[in-house]
Amino acid sequence: MRLILIGPPGVGKGTQSQLLVEHFAIPQVSTGDMLRAHKKDQTSLGKRAQETMDQGNLVPDDIILSMVEERLGEEDAAAGFILDGFPRTVPQGLGLNVILEQLGVAMDAVINIDVKEDVLLTRLTARRTCRKCGTVYNLVINPPRKPGVCDECGGTGLIQREDDQPATIQTRLAVYRRQTVPLLSYYNPTGLLAEVSGDGTVEEVFQRILAVLPASR
Ligand code: AP5
Repeated sequence: MRLILIGPPGVGKGTQSQLLVEHFAIPQVSTGDMLRAHKKDQTSLGKRAQETMDQGNLVPDDIILSMVEERLGEEDAAAGFILDGFPRTVPQGLGLNVILEQLGVAMDAVINIDVKEDVLLTRLTARRTCRKCGTVYNLVINPPRKPGVCDECGGTGLIQREDDQPATIQTRLAVYRRQTVPLLSYYNPTGLLAEVSGDGTVEEVFQRILAVLPASR
């Protein structure tokens, strides 16, 4: 199964990717996570991307495409993958086509998840991530069992992402509308695009995604 998850910041792409990883036993390829790892390790790419990400803008397409090309060529991606947060511009979509052609594979579905903006804001402002293992929580709907302590690794550093500050969230939403929404018109004629409501519980959204996926994969 080869899937693209598209949707505004905070809609639940990362959360749903985790469930899809377990369900299909294929890797999640999150360009946001990859960039944050580069930032954390202060690689040259991380240093270049840092300011752009912290402001809520998009990292240049050429950087993203070479990062994704390398990742999709790895062995664990041979049987399928979930693209989370990529592509998010039309040029990235065109670049992905070239990568897929080189690999001799094709996408099975493009899932667009959406919810109203006030829901996105609530989800983003309450998001916390374990600094040690990366597990994502939500202080409102999915808090850790013991406040401030990660259920998975016992780490005590549950942090708020730098781009989850209110002003940066507004920039990310505007960038999404301007640069990523046109990608939906690009994928619409391909027959791959399915719309899924991101309202409701994590499990409800997951079942909706499974229901629109092609059955035979
Ligand atoms: P990225 O990390 O991709 O951020 P994003 O697209 O803004 O998406 P988020 O990670 O904020 O949200 P999500 O949809 O994954 O939601 P989540 O599941 O965490 O990108 C960050 C930055 O990197 C970009 O701004 C850009 O600078 C750069 N970048 C990345 N990719 C790029 C690219 N391709 N090109 C250029 N630049 C790129 O859920 C959010 C919260 O809601 C969590 O707390 C979760 O627990 C909760 N939640 C999830 N589902 C539900 C539900 N059903 N009900 C209630 N709460 C829920």
